[in-house]
Amino acid sequence: MRRPLVVANWKMNTNLSDAIVLATAIRDGVENISGVEVVICPPAIWLVEVSQIIHKEIGHLGLGAQNIHYMPDGSYTGEISAGMVRDVAKYVILGHSERRKNFAETNDIIARKTAVALDTGLIPIICVGEEKKSQNSVSEVVTQLKESLFGINKNELDQIIVAYEPVRAVGAEEPATPEHSARVIDQLREVLSIQTPILYGGAINAGNIYSFVQRPEIDGVLVGRDSLNAPGFIKICRIVSEYKRMV
Ligand code: PGA
Repeated sequence: MRRPLVVANWKMNTNLSDAIVLATAIRDGVENISGVEVVICPPAIWLVEVSQIIHKEIGHLGLGAQNIHYMPDGSYTGEISAGMVRDVAKYVILGHSERRKNFAETNDIIARKTAVALDTGLIPIICVGEEKKSQNSVSEVVTQLKESLFGINKNELDQIIVAYEPVRAVGAEEPATPEHSARVIDQLREVLSIQTPILYGGAINAGNIYSFVQRPEIDGVLVGRDSLNAPGFIKICRIVSEYKRMV
């Protein structure tokens, strides 16, 4: 069975003391929630600090970065390598729509980052999603995923996580519908292994999570804004754990 997952993407939010308070509250809040893996992705500069908080350790609580460079090391001022992240964390978000849009990340760049992440022992959380809903949404997202996985061996598909994040839902008022998301995810599954967790992301909160976790196609969620609010985020984790035990 695939593991249910909830990923917190803090994006470029929190100062040091906020990060400590938030990570501590999430750690304490999910300690007794079983059956779901929770991954916190703080800004890179707080990774070490947060690792010291969560590594005291609750087995189902992990740490991830929000990006890495595709080169293993070298003269890339301001960048962070997979190896650096691997020293403190286990996961890395790749290909988030904000990076595709604001930093011109292409599928080719994401494929290179995915390769270096896997070579280094990091678990990539690869984000894909269509810009606008159209008749071609499904094929657009499938192509994006195939290209973002270019060069990856079939046996490595068990070591990645995919997040379906329709761009129009990220940071928006409303998520995509669970039905549309499940339809897309069904097709993404064809490209992946039966073991690859596939998450939904975009405008998820403690109020709308129910309709997503009820879908057997959706293995969990990637949460942006609501991961900055510890009680709401912990509630999302609890609901995912309860529902995924039933579906
Ligand atoms: P949101 O962000 O939950 O704030 O919409 C989701 C994401 O960026 O993954």
